Amino acid sequence: MCSCVLTGVGVAGPDEDGPRPGGGPLHQQRSYGPGAQLPGGSYHRFRSTSSLQGFSEMARERSKTVTSFYNQSAIDVSAEKASVRLTLATLLYSGKSPDGHHILSSAKYLHKELPVRIAHRIKGFRSLPFIIGCNPTILQVHELYIRAYHMLSDFPPIKDQDEEARFCKLVQQLLDDHKDVVTMLAQGFRECRRHAQDETILRSFLDTTLCSRLGIRMLATHHLALHEDNPDFVGMICRRLSPKKIIEKWVDFARRLCEHQYGNSPRVRINGHVAARFPFIPLPLDYILPELLKNAMRATMESHLDTPYNVPDVIVTIANNDIDFVIRISDRGGGIPHNIIDKVMDYHYSTAEESAQDPRMSNLFNNITNSGNQSSPMHGFGFGLPTSRAYAEYLGGSLSVQSMQGIGTDVYLRLRHIDGKGESFRV
Ligand SMILES: Nc1ncnc2c1ncn2[C@@H]1O[C@H](COP(=O)(O)OP(=O)(O)OP(=O)(O)O)[C@@H](O)[C@H]1O
Ligand SMILES: [Mg+2]
Repeated sequence: MCSCVLTGVGVAGPDEDGPRPGGGPLHQQRSYGPGAQLPGGSYHRFRSTSSLQGFSEMARERSKTVTSFYNQSAIDVSAEKASVRLTLATLLYSGKSPDGHHILSSAKYLHKELPVRIAHRIKGFRSLPFIIGCNPTILQVHELYIRAYHMLSDFPPIKDQDEEARFCKLVQQLLDDHKDVVTMLAQGFRECRRHAQDETILRSFLDTTLCSRLGIRMLATHHLALHEDNPDFVGMICRRLSPKKIIEKWVDFARRLCEHQYGNSPRVRINGHVAARFPFIPLPLDYILPELLKNAMRATMESHLDTPYNVPDVIVTIANNDIDFVIRISDRGGGIPHNIIDKVMDYHYSTAEESAQDPRMSNLFNNITNSGNQSSPMHGFGFGLPTSRAYAEYLGGSLSVQSMQGIGTDVYLRLRHIDGKGESFRV
């Protein structure tokens, strides 16, 4: 959900997918979540269905999809199968071969694995409370998954390069078609969550669905990127990722959004292990870092509305060791008050509305959105923290928040190394 679309800010974020009215890869293009484009590297993007031909194809597919709602024995069978999660170390070391057979093996694995993972998700949609599953936006996402399931399982066995190339087209098309899914889920659940008797069902559905989606998109992106010849990358894995560089990229992004909204932005100082480099995947960092930086900058600016040109710096500290690495983002934005600290990790919890009611803010919001609503590039559905935490935990790490009420907030993002001493996580 890109802020950029909403505000016209010409911020070139590396990702086009991502949920909400915030700007970030989770949130750029006003859409959250793992997106289709690999930041820092471009693999060839295949065209999605287009124009008239696309329409008739879609109509045909749709009628297939609707029937599939009622005739899903194949999905039931796939949903009973176990997913095969690979370690990133496996992806890294099997990601290159002189004769290119790694690409064919990777395609065969995906061809088998994706329908299973998608079937698990469809089962999740079917187990939602009836009233929630009937929400039109949620239904639309459910349909997208069913359609993807059939397109993938109808694809013939992949035996040669031509079939592999056609499979890549399909995978790219599905990545494109699903790029707004997180935004749609955020929107759909916002519309109907008041009907939910049990909040924990929604949290667990969102955690599982978003993480599974991250995993699927990482695998798909990895496969497409295997076709690229970039010495620094093996598929989506950067061999020598510099945390400092990736932080700087997102600082730049977040500062531009912040300046657009508040007229200024805090300076960001990076310290600690600034020279560290190690193999890692930029993708999850590309979703999490802009979220955390936007939160820190927003808190800093909104706690200094009377002195917007004299605001404290945000400090980012990197700590690297042989098991994991930690990125701490410290702001002096007043901290998270006691009465909301337990809620900030809840999906859809946001203080955007309160901000908009501050008379000093309302001018800013109206200037930006021209609509007076609470959407802004800096915050949105209340998805930034819970989604980031779910992604970090999916990758065997953690995200924790320490608030010093009256002073500021420290957010610790801890992620495991791919080839560290500890056990490597699985995608
Ligand atoms: N560094 C911070 N300092 C003070 N409050 C914070 C900080 N980070 C988050 N919060 C509070 O936690 C709430 C939830 O954060 P979260 O990032 O999940 O949602 P959001 O920023 O409101 O919207 P979104 O991230 O979806 O655009 C925020 O609205 C804000 O009130
Ligand atoms: Mg946020």
